Amino acid sequence: MTFDFDTILDRRGTGSLKWDFPARKLSAPEALPMWVADMDFAAPPAVIEALSRRLAHGAFGYASFPDSVREAAADWMTERFSWSVRPEWISIAPGVVPSLYACVRALSRPGDGVIIQTPVYPPFFSAMEATGRRLVKNPLKFQNGRWTMDFDDLERRIDERTRTIILCSPHNPVGRVWLEEELRRLAGICLERDMVIISDEIHGDLVFRDHRHIPLASLGPEISERTITLAAPSKTFNIAGLAASLSIAENRIHRECFRREFAQTGWELPNVFGLTAMEAAYRGGGPWLAALLEYLEAGADKLARFFSERLAPLRFFKPEGTYLALIDGRALGLSSAGWNEFLLRKAGVYLNDGAAFGEETAGFARLNFACPHAVLDEALTRIERALGEYHEK
Ligand SMILES: Cc1ncc(COP(=O)(O)O)c(C=O)c1O
Repeated sequence: MTFDFDTILDRRGTGSLKWDFPARKLSAPEALPMWVADMDFAAPPAVIEALSRRLAHGAFGYASFPDSVREAAADWMTERFSWSVRPEWISIAPGVVPSLYACVRALSRPGDGVIIQTPVYPPFFSAMEATGRRLVKNPLKFQNGRWTMDFDDLERRIDERTRTIILCSPHNPVGRVWLEEELRRLAGICLERDMVIISDEIHGDLVFRDHRHIPLASLGPEISERTITLAAPSKTFNIAGLAASLSIAENRIHRECFRREFAQTGWELPNVFGLTAMEAAYRGGGPWLAALLEYLEAGADKLARFFSERLAPLRFFKPEGTYLALIDGRALGLSSAGWNEFLLRKAGVYLNDGAAFGEETAGFARLNFACPHAVLDEALTRIERALGEYHEK
């Protein structure tokens, strides 16, 4: 079966954050939006068909969390990652970000330190502000165009009130798919120092050729006991607007604490369409995902070629997973905000300012390449033209 990722889907006027924000808030309706992490592709046919059937039923009262959805999610984890997840370990949530907040509350106390590996997805920072925890940074190291974990620094950051770490795996925005040896080293430190881990694996399905996503909790029972994994079909199948995600915890106490945190917000019942889409995606989305990954990687290769051949001194870093890539614009000598403003106002492409992920990526921009290749071509042409004008000045 073939799938179409080339057709340009007009998302204007559909209440899309990605398309509305630059048009309305930044008065840049012509800018190509290549920022927030959703894709300009329709969801898999299997998902659309299941949603259509559910829609045709007509009754949309309160939902339960059916066993069939839990089982579909557990089977997906087992089949794709050789990670035996029991259905009862799984809780449903409206999103990974709310789950992150709930996990921080469930696994630490106010005033405790929580470690994050910067640069990283901005809600990792805001989760600390929202919950009154102390932000403890364990910055990634950037050497020869590659980001790695700094384990010596990590060991120094841990103390009696800093016993929680949030892992981003694969990592947004640096695009690393952590190797087994890196994860084992991290797990070893966490076991030795009695840490608990919140492992955000929302990008776990989006991994390119020659790389393999390894769920942290799959490394063994001891590490599984101290890990809450946050996962979702939302990035993978472009259904983030349906607000359904998963938290997976073998540890019963962690599970109960997590559920209690949500209960305290008053949120309990999931969205019927989110559940329908999740089950259909996990049961029938595999072939579409395989085709998507090939398409995304071909797009990343196209970008890498164009940047190295025609856009010096800008540097593009092909990620190992996710559909997000960093571009280093520091050679232009602009501030971080200035570099992003240049991309928006001079080139007409709207990316994320690298500074939003931490000071480590100030002067970078994060580009979302989950769109038809023709749109990538247009973006590249626009950047090349703007760069030419910049150099002429
Ligand atoms: C690492 C990471 N976690 C969580 C999210 C968002 O999760 P949700 O939309 O389920 O809240 C994103 C979205 O980009 C992300 O990159």
